[in-house]
Amino acid sequence: MARVLVTGAATGLGRNTVAALLDEGHEAVLHARHHARLSDVHDLLARGAAPVTGDLATHEGTLSVAEQANALGGIDAVIHNAGVYNGPDTLAVNVLAPYLMTCLITRPDRHIYLSSSMHTTGRADTSPITAPGSSTALGYADSKLFVTTLAAALPRRLPGVLSNAVDPGWVPTRMGGPSAPDDLRLGHVTQLWLATTPSPETTGGYWHHQHQQSPHPAVRDDTFQEELLDALSHRTGITLTTR
Ligand SMILES: NC(=O)c1ccc[n+]([C@@H]2O[C@H](COP(=O)([O-])OP(=O)(O)OC[C@H]3O[C@@H](n4cnc5c(N)ncnc54)[C@H](OP(=O)(O)O)[C@@H]3O)[C@@H](O)[C@H]2O)c1
Repeated sequence: MARVLVTGAATGLGRNTVAALLDEGHEAVLHARHHARLSDVHDLLARGAAPVTGDLATHEGTLSVAEQANALGGIDAVIHNAGVYNGPDTLAVNVLAPYLMTCLITRPDRHIYLSSSMHTTGRADTSPITAPGSSTALGYADSKLFVTTLAAALPRRLPGVLSNAVDPGWVPTRMGGPSAPDDLRLGHVTQLWLATTPSPETTGGYWHHQHQQSPHPAVRDDTFQEELLDALSHRTGITLTTR
């Protein structure tokens, strides 16, 4: 049995992931944006999911979520699921929050980051992270290229930690829209498997439906990985180090 933190779990893929964790007998820590969002997951809380809350668009909110998770303790895996498709919070929610949670949550053995096939059209340019005052300039594809690269860079920085990125398909959630063509029932399966299955102990992969895919070439580029980690450290004031 594993204890897994899922961010952005009040709806969509995050909610489905928590339900599936509980179905399989795991412990779930369910993150929602704020207390009022927990009313949408009262069924999952009644089944034993432990809530943590915080706005991942803000540095303070993200730090608070990490503190709450650490207070609960014993987090074996984090599924970095929360995401936005556009708007001013794309950098903070899709990139900075997963990075900060990776730095600050105590000793999960596994990190799973929600990517997207759209990351392949992202630009391998970290200047939107480091540009003074930058908060609105990041597109969705760029954000998913960054978080996919973070997943690939982690094994070198945190030896022994399993880190993978997942494209869940284009599925009919609030983000995906009602006419999304892929099967919603499969949208959380790979994340759950990577978070809880003892083997294969795979790391650094980019996955779709439990099969490895080829990511954007920059994802596996050591130089770009280091450039990204430096930019994230510079932007947040927090450096990813071996624990
Ligand atoms: N759906 C797709 O077709 C698709 C395809 C590829 C990748 N993905 C990725 O899969 C992940 C889940 O997407 P989804 O389709 O389930 O989207 P969704 O239904 O829109 O759910 C997104 C979740 O993220 C949370 N969130 C957004 N901004 C937040 C913030 N500032 N603070 C805290 N929580 C925040 C939302 O909370 P609220 O409900 O409170 O807003 C919600 O729980 C995302 O990372 C997305 O990029 C989805």
